[in-house]
Amino acid sequence: MHPAHVTLCEVGPRDGLQNEAQPVPAAAKIALVQRLQAAGLREIEVTSFVSPKWVPQMADNTEVLMGLQRPAGVRYAVLTPNLKGLEGALALPAAHRPDEVVVFGAASEAFSQRNINCSIDESLARFAPVVAAAHEAGLKVRAALSCALGCPYQGEVSADEVERVVRGFKAIGVDHCGIADTIGVGTPRKVQAAMERALKHFPVVEVSGHFHDTYGQALANILACLEMGVHSFDTSVAGLGGCPYAKGATGNVATEDVVFILRGMDIDCGVDLDALVDAGAYISGVLGRPPASRVGRAVLAKRGVAVNVAS
Ligand code: HMG
Ligand code: MG
Repeated sequence: MHPAHVTLCEVGPRDGLQNEAQPVPAAAKIALVQRLQAAGLREIEVTSFVSPKWVPQMADNTEVLMGLQRPAGVRYAVLTPNLKGLEGALALPAAHRPDEVVVFGAASEAFSQRNINCSIDESLARFAPVVAAAHEAGLKVRAALSCALGCPYQGEVSADEVERVVRGFKAIGVDHCGIADTIGVGTPRKVQAAMERALKHFPVVEVSGHFHDTYGQALANILACLEMGVHSFDTSVAGLGGCPYAKGATGNVATEDVVFILRGMDIDCGVDLDALVDAGAYISGVLGRPPASRVGRAVLAKRGVAVNVAS
């Protein structure tokens, strides 16, 4: 029995564009977010408040948020790895402030060091005041658990290692736990084992999957989650994405591909596929390459559109 409704959190503007070698103008990021919300996406990870020396692509965080018109019912999230990041997000005028912040830890020590320059325990200690201050400011806090299915430096990651950090997230009071397959090596049974550990500590409405599609396993992994009742997923328009600290990891599962499979299964997610394909074609045109989404390319081909042309 599958859930009747699935919530998609669109991470393309953040996870997707953080990884681009070429600069993407803030105006294009704003236009992308506006197309995504017009297509029906209600949760959008817009940008990151991280060190611009570490991730220069997200240095325009304030400009992007200031340029957006947020319709009623749309929630914006931003990454904040420390208090400095949260302060940056809270410095915005109320109408442009995000609704949610994301702290991001890892199941492997090696990835924690490479991505946020500290150990797992140090990261939890650093996140704790971010969680408290975000709650004080009325923001929801999501936590992302990178390398939950495998690590580019350590290799295999066990469910026990996942649960250790899930428990740490719970202890510092985050509201939501996302299980992330940073390098896309997870397969359905392993994903279910990791999800079970998250579900021991968080209710199903506050657990989500974030699957990079490097090895083509993401849709199978989402189906495995649906079988368990997990019904929230991060997805990325046009299959954009990757992590600058996980070389070779490609994009997140494409939002278009997930919307297509959900539609085929009569599971509602509130997204208009045609408008979403337009958003994917738009950003792919800005980046000068075809969308990675198979569904996006198929829909464009059916419309007779050359797939590497912006609409
Ligand atoms: P650090 O160097 O240890 O930090 O970096 P620090 O506190 O020593 O500060 C060093 C400098 O950075 C200082 O500036 C700070 O002011 C500045 P300086 O004095 O040298 O001029 N700084 C900041 N500037 C702006 N905003 C901030 C901030 N913090 C410090 N928030 C830090 C630690 C966490 C900051 C750094 O490692 C960092 O920014 N890492 C971000 C890495 C990142 O964004 N990775 C990609 C996102 S995670 C991801 O993609 C995974 C996910 O998708 C799930 C999955 O797929 O696995 C979520
Ligand atoms: Mg990611």
